Amino acid sequence: MKKILITGGAGFIGSHVVRRFVNQYPNYHIFNLDALTYAGNLENIADIEKAPNYTFVKGDIVDAPFIDALFAEHQFDGVLHLAAESHVDRSITDPLAFVKTNVIGTMNLLNAAKTIWKDQMEGKRFYHISTDEVYGSLGAEGLFTETTAYDPNSPYSASKASSDHFVRAYGETYGLPYVLTNCSNNYGPFHFPEKLIPLFINNIIHNKPLPVYGDGKYTRDWLFVEDHAVAIDLVFHKGVNHDTYNIGGFNEWQNIDLVKLLCRIMDEKLGRPAGTSAQLITYVKDRPGHDLRYAIDATKINQELGWKPSVTFEEGLERTVNWYLDNQKWLDNVTSGAYASYYEKQYENRDS
Ligand code: NAD
Ligand code: TYD
Repeated sequence: MKKILITGGAGFIGSHVVRRFVNQYPNYHIFNLDALTYAGNLENIADIEKAPNYTFVKGDIVDAPFIDALFAEHQFDGVLHLAAESHVDRSITDPLAFVKTNVIGTMNLLNAAKTIWKDQMEGKRFYHISTDEVYGSLGAEGLFTETTAYDPNSPYSASKASSDHFVRAYGETYGLPYVLTNCSNNYGPFHFPEKLIPLFINNIIHNKPLPVYGDGKYTRDWLFVEDHAVAIDLVFHKGVNHDTYNIGGFNEWQNIDLVKLLCRIMDEKLGRPAGTSAQLITYVKDRPGHDLRYAIDATKINQELGWKPSVTFEEGLERTVNWYLDNQKWLDNVTSGAYASYYEKQYENRDS
């Protein structure tokens, strides 16, 4: 049985990837390593918690001796690395936290993989999940391709760019087998309500203002998270060693148009008169260094691996809204902080 390590599996995208791997690959044992920071929530993967091919490990990727010991003990065959500090606004107020987890944490994983695989690299794989934000900002025209030069603007994207470079460097210098993907903005169930879509859904439910940064004309390319998980599965199994793939939704929206669409869907679902939620839109001070536009050219992964998004934006957004309305307890637990005690309840008291 192959042992696969997934980092950050209690977070938003990681939870979808862990669920997919546990369910699709009974011949793998999946280890989910997560520090359970504010963004980690074991409720996200409660449904697979008791699967026989799944183990949760609480731990910090910044802790090198711990990571070395974990790799020595389990001799993982593959690593899918998603653990990260992921929110741009937080990176502006605390950039060092992003260097620690995203750069040093990634280095620790690379070093540990290099050590246990040194005599046998064949059949092994280190997969780094990254972002399109490393490419910086587009103007009105053009798309990011795999050959676009890195030009990160926020401390978050600078830390992800740095870790991407180290992954490549370990491939070139030590022959570490790696694949790397850069993906556009994800949305869907279990998204932490600090990011645009879940924050605004939560605020609409509670009749709170919807803070649109600047003029709202910033553009993002949105991808349903389950489509990202499918792409990650494909790249992990079929991606070419030492190669990189861009993943995107072919789905660009200016923030303000997206917010208005979301308001319309929420009014319908909540049975409120049309236009009610849109009254909550409030233009606020812009994010410093705000990237104008991201848009991915996902032709390569489409042509080489046959991947394309399966969910339209209208369908994905409606599924997302339905999920949040059906899971208000999840949302309440996250906003109240109650989710933080899940680990203690499920794990720490288990042996006593
Ligand atoms: P998230 O913030 O929802 O989850 C991150 C997870 O990592 C959490 O469970 C957290 O507890 C864990 N973690 C953080 N620091 C850790 C540490 N030091 N040690 C161990 N675990 C730690 O993030 P996400 O949105 O799911 O993003 C996952 C990955 O995908 C990240 O690498 C991110 O850069 C990348 N990505 C995200 C998006 C997006 O739209 N969200 C798009 C492209 C790429
Ligand atoms: P976000 O979800 O933080 O993702 P990212 O910064 O990684 O793209 O933000 C998406 C877009 O929405 C971005 O242009 C910033 C904007 N935004 C707001 O206008 N208001 C908000 O409260 C948030 C969180 C984001």
